[in-house]
Amino acid sequence: MSEPFVAVQPFYQRDRCTLYQGDCLEILPLFPANSVDLIFADPPYNLSNNGFTCHGGRAVSVNKGDWDRSNGIEQDFEFHRAWIQECRRILKPNGTIWISGTYHNIYACGFALQCLDFHVLNEICWYKPNASPNLSCRFFTASHETLIWARKSKKGKHVFNYEAMKLGDFPRDPLKLSGRQMRSVWSIPTPPASEKLQGKHPTQKPLDLLDRILSASTNPGDLVLDPFSGSGTTGLSALRGDRAFIGIEKEAAYLQLAVDRFTTAPLPGSETTEGDRVLANGKPGNKPSSKTRNPPNSKTANLPTGASTIDPNSPKPSHPSAPSQPNH
Ligand SMILES: C[S@@+](CC[C@H](N)C(=O)[O-])C[C@H]1O[C@@H](n2cnc3c(N)ncnc32)[C@H](O)[C@@H]1O
Repeated sequence: MSEPFVAVQPFYQRDRCTLYQGDCLEILPLFPANSVDLIFADPPYNLSNNGFTCHGGRAVSVNKGDWDRSNGIEQDFEFHRAWIQECRRILKPNGTIWISGTYHNIYACGFALQCLDFHVLNEICWYKPNASPNLSCRFFTASHETLIWARKSKKGKHVFNYEAMKLGDFPRDPLKLSGRQMRSVWSIPTPPASEKLQGKHPTQKPLDLLDRILSASTNPGDLVLDPFSGSGTTGLSALRGDRAFIGIEKEAAYLQLAVDRFTTAPLPGSETTEGDRVLANGKPGNKPSSKTRNPPNSKTANLPTGASTIDPNSPKPSHPSAPSQPNH
């Protein structure tokens, strides 16, 4: 690989996991081409428009943060096209990308994928049986999100763990019939309180959703990238499943929440220590170590950091491709 190593000090790094703080439009271009197996992206939904929704029986603002505001359909599309274009460059030829969204942003993302010559494999309807009620009672209650799954090239030999999806155990999804093919409508509740013990992110995804996605479309040892990593759900799922992970996130508070989740959760194959914590920004355990950068002359000098830390001799995953879903 001829592209330079990612010349940014990680916010956090441990075996098989690196978090970068910053705008993904600036950090993605620093990655080598053809270096990542799978990208899961949960980008801004552009839905923070001062409306209201219902939470716990009370009216609450739908606003998620300034990062979620719309800048108008043209600028929103240009933003989505720009980061998706970088993702295409970074993906390996057989790699795939998942993008989640609602009608506010998913058409723009889908159009960008088509313009950039991705080949759409599936559109998943993620049905949320416990979605908030509608306050106005003037239209239907929004209770699903859309996920687009696409491969980089029509000729790509993408990973699809068909048997794991067909024969896996999904006890909390009444739509998945035992021993039958996995269909494109998934019933998965929003994240339970047990996944918010370390703090809250306004658009946190459930681990069940990411476990299913990574089990379906990656293999142990693969490198997963999330350019909008938020509270680190993708990273936690990747680490639990023995995949390597790189996350990019603008907000330090969300990065710290992700670190707290990673360091609290028992992960297979690596020990959690005090020194595992934050490597940048003067936080505890931040002594820069040789692990913050690939050794200059190592075989992995041009690989993204997460890729360089996969230890082929590390214990194999404690959970197989078919996710066993813990009871929340
Ligand atoms: C929809 S949330 C992702 C939530 C995440 N999937 C989770 O489970 O916690 C999008 C995240 O992207 C971050 N973000 C927004 N614009 C960004 C950008 N240009 N570069 C990097 N991160 C960005 C936001 O701060 C937010 O945390």
